[in-house]
Amino acid sequence: MTVCEYRPGLEGVPATQSSISYVDGQNGILEYRGIRIDKLAKHSTFLETSYLLIWGQLPTQDELDEFEHEIRYHRRLKYRIRDMMKCFPESGHPMDALQACAAALGLFYSRRALEDPAYIRAAVVRLLAKIPTMVAAFQLMRKGNDPVQPRDDLDYSANFLYMLNEREPDPLAAMIFDVCLNLHAEHTINASTFSAMVTASTLTDPYAVVASAVGTLAGPLHGGANEEVIMMLEEIGSVENVEPYLDKCLENKSKIMGFGHRVYKVKDPRATILQELAEKLFEKFGRDHYYDIAVELERLVEAKLGHKGIYPNVDFYSGLVYSKLGIPTDLFTPVFAIARVAGWLAHWKEQLEANRIFRPTQIYTGIHNAPYIPRGERQTAEGEPVVPELVASNP
Ligand code: ACO
Repeated sequence: MTVCEYRPGLEGVPATQSSISYVDGQNGILEYRGIRIDKLAKHSTFLETSYLLIWGQLPTQDELDEFEHEIRYHRRLKYRIRDMMKCFPESGHPMDALQACAAALGLFYSRRALEDPAYIRAAVVRLLAKIPTMVAAFQLMRKGNDPVQPRDDLDYSANFLYMLNEREPDPLAAMIFDVCLNLHAEHTINASTFSAMVTASTLTDPYAVVASAVGTLAGPLHGGANEEVIMMLEEIGSVENVEPYLDKCLENKSKIMGFGHRVYKVKDPRATILQELAEKLFEKFGRDHYYDIAVELERLVEAKLGHKGIYPNVDFYSGLVYSKLGIPTDLFTPVFAIARVAGWLAHWKEQLEANRIFRPTQIYTGIHNAPYIPRGERQTAEGEPVVPELVASNP
């Protein structure tokens, strides 16, 4: 076996073989199962795309009808899960609530038969169906209200917006939200998908797989960036303030949220589609002044950082779209999770088809054969004796 050089963040190191999605970061191309993302955004629904990702081909009309039907009738949550959610603190982050709820599904659906296609299908249906209900339920419960039951007569995206806002959404809003889910459904081996795959490789249950991925998606360098984009636009406040803000960030070497990507060195194709969607929403529901700030920021970042391949990523315009759809800022990442569960499940299934547990190696940088110093003789790095009581109370 050849020993590879250490690459921090595993940059450029293949961790798997996959036929689910493909990114060409130099040319701004994203494909799901070989189909370009712009075609799917235009012609496919999120559930059709999920089927494509998970089962490898577009469903026939009958297959799609059956899949949608199953999902529609598994949207409700068990009352014990709702009761568990009632105990969550209102101040808790919705991603933490979602992670706990996804993991809790494993308690209720504990039969594990990973070699049985019917089990795989049931888990896929359950997770796709119930995750939006969990996100909407937590939103209402933390405001002290009862959750809104899903409506079987509404499509996937319209139903989510209905559960969230307690009213049927405008058809354009529901359509745009569905495209957003489509765009976020999958993106090769990103951090949360890798996390899902590592968990899957231990042959644990799919709810643990999704729960670990949700936890990974929550971080500000991954799915959490869309929240931070809105906070940043709020902080900038006006178009005139964009340049001084950007210059200060560059001076302090701080990252500009919603820009840069490990793989894309041009504008993320999803950002281009999201920008178009934002404009459609503004046309119908009124322009948002944060959008003007965002456009100016994009122009200046391109001028100042374009040579480093720093362009808007998917998170830059998604927050603006979600805000306009009336989605609270701290639900942006849970909404990302609603979409990405399709990709996680596709990778879970693919991992099971040729599983080998992930167990990489490391380069040890520590010392060897160190002495065991008795507690009373230990000193701090500054040469002070360690206070024994403190050691005892913080074992
Ligand atoms: N703002 C300013 N400079 C940046 C940014 C940014 N957003 N992103 C990268 N750079 C610069 C770095 O300072 C570095 O410059 P240097 O070579 O002069 O030191 C160079 O570009 C390379 O940056 P890295 O951090 O090494 O790139 P990496 O591939 O490790 O990180 C990441 C990618 C995490 C996405 C990074 O661009 C970032 O932190 N962006 C902001 C957070 C964000 O928007 N995350 C969402 C990503 S999309 C997603 O997860 C769905």
